[in-house]
Amino acid sequence: MSKRLVSVIVMCAMMLLAVVPSLAQEDLSGDLEIFSWWAGDEGPALEALLEKFGELHPNIEVENATVTGGSGVNARAVLKTRMLGGDPPDSFQVHAGQELIGTYVVADTMEDLTFLFEEEGWMDIFPEGLIDLLSTDEGIWSVPVNIHRSNVMWYIPANLEEWGVEVPADWDAFLEACPTLQEAGVTPMSVGENWTVVHLWENVALAELGAEGYRALWAGEKAWTDEDVVAMWDKFGQILDCTNADEDAASLPWQQATDMVVNGEAAFNIMGDWAAGYMNTTLGLAPGEGFGWAPAPGTEGVFNMLSDSFGLPEGAPNRDNVLAWLRLLGSQEGQDIFNPLKGSIAARTDSDLSLYNEYLQSAAEDWASNEIVGSLAHGAVAPESFSSEFPTVMEQFLASRNAQATSAAVQALAEEAGIAGGEM
Ligand code: GAL
Repeated sequence: MSKRLVSVIVMCAMMLLAVVPSLAQEDLSGDLEIFSWWAGDEGPALEALLEKFGELHPNIEVENATVTGGSGVNARAVLKTRMLGGDPPDSFQVHAGQELIGTYVVADTMEDLTFLFEEEGWMDIFPEGLIDLLSTDEGIWSVPVNIHRSNVMWYIPANLEEWGVEVPADWDAFLEACPTLQEAGVTPMSVGENWTVVHLWENVALAELGAEGYRALWAGEKAWTDEDVVAMWDKFGQILDCTNADEDAASLPWQQATDMVVNGEAAFNIMGDWAAGYMNTTLGLAPGEGFGWAPAPGTEGVFNMLSDSFGLPEGAPNRDNVLAWLRLLGSQEGQDIFNPLKGSIAARTDSDLSLYNEYLQSAAEDWASNEIVGSLAHGAVAPESFSSEFPTVMEQFLASRNAQATSAAVQALAEEAGIAGGEM
């Protein structure tokens, strides 16, 4: 064989290799159902990502299946029924941590994605602690798209100035400011439906017990009946007296609790930083001038995290299309399209921070330097058997404000869920 012929053959082979991956992409067709609770006001980030997916895979028909309801309160129930009934969506939103592992992985309903993490070089790109949250000894079970922060307090700077109120550094300072605001006809802190009260609670618990005490609750190293935990419930009751909990809260989705702050009906709201996404992307307020933020009182230096992720259920009808979706979701480009709109930072460590607003840049800084704990209300720290019953206990506390009885009830719940600390 002549040298020339050999080099032509080699060149042809190389061209073929270069063409194969893109051919494989264009070859993908059929359907892809993506299931989440990012509907309406929560939709823009996912929609932008799906638009990109459509450009990359024009022959895949995507169904953006959403079930409205903040924090997935409604979507989780629908998902559970579908998973139990052997009708999984192709890919679904699930929080990193116990919501993923304690619900779907223990039930053997997810595919191990270790191979995808290795192929895409993600083992070195996602923080180790986050990969741990998505993993068991048997595998890695979903792809994280973001990091949200739970312990943020939101306010409108111009309103605080008008009312002569400072951002409280701890809960005692908040309780001191409470009567001033109430006398001015302002709700000191807005809350909404039950899960938003749980969200507030976890950040009060974090402040009052400290990162170590808070962590110990989930690690089974601290009893719910300990004196400081009972005292924390007492303080939480006092804080609730400075909210709209006894008025219309139960009927308000989180966006409307945020609206109360924006409209000047309330001074503060504690919510995850999807509220920054809502105020910036949907309401058009500029971070800094239009809305302000601070760590939830008493939690400076601590980052209460949660992460949205998507996985590949066993028996997903369109497995190859899911893998293409997960590849985009985990990519730098995908994360930098999604997160600036969502109000979260990228789960990847190499995102382009120049694309992120002032709030998100500060969150990225805190994520890199703060002590990290995980959210109860958003699936990171407790198994479903605990987190799905906790709202009932909260309902009882809202009615009774009895710290002692509530502590005992949560201890019983923790014992049933196998995560109780203290003498048993
Ligand atoms: C969280 C979720 C966020 C956001 C929020 C409000 O659980 O992780 O991405 O959607 O609920 O619905």
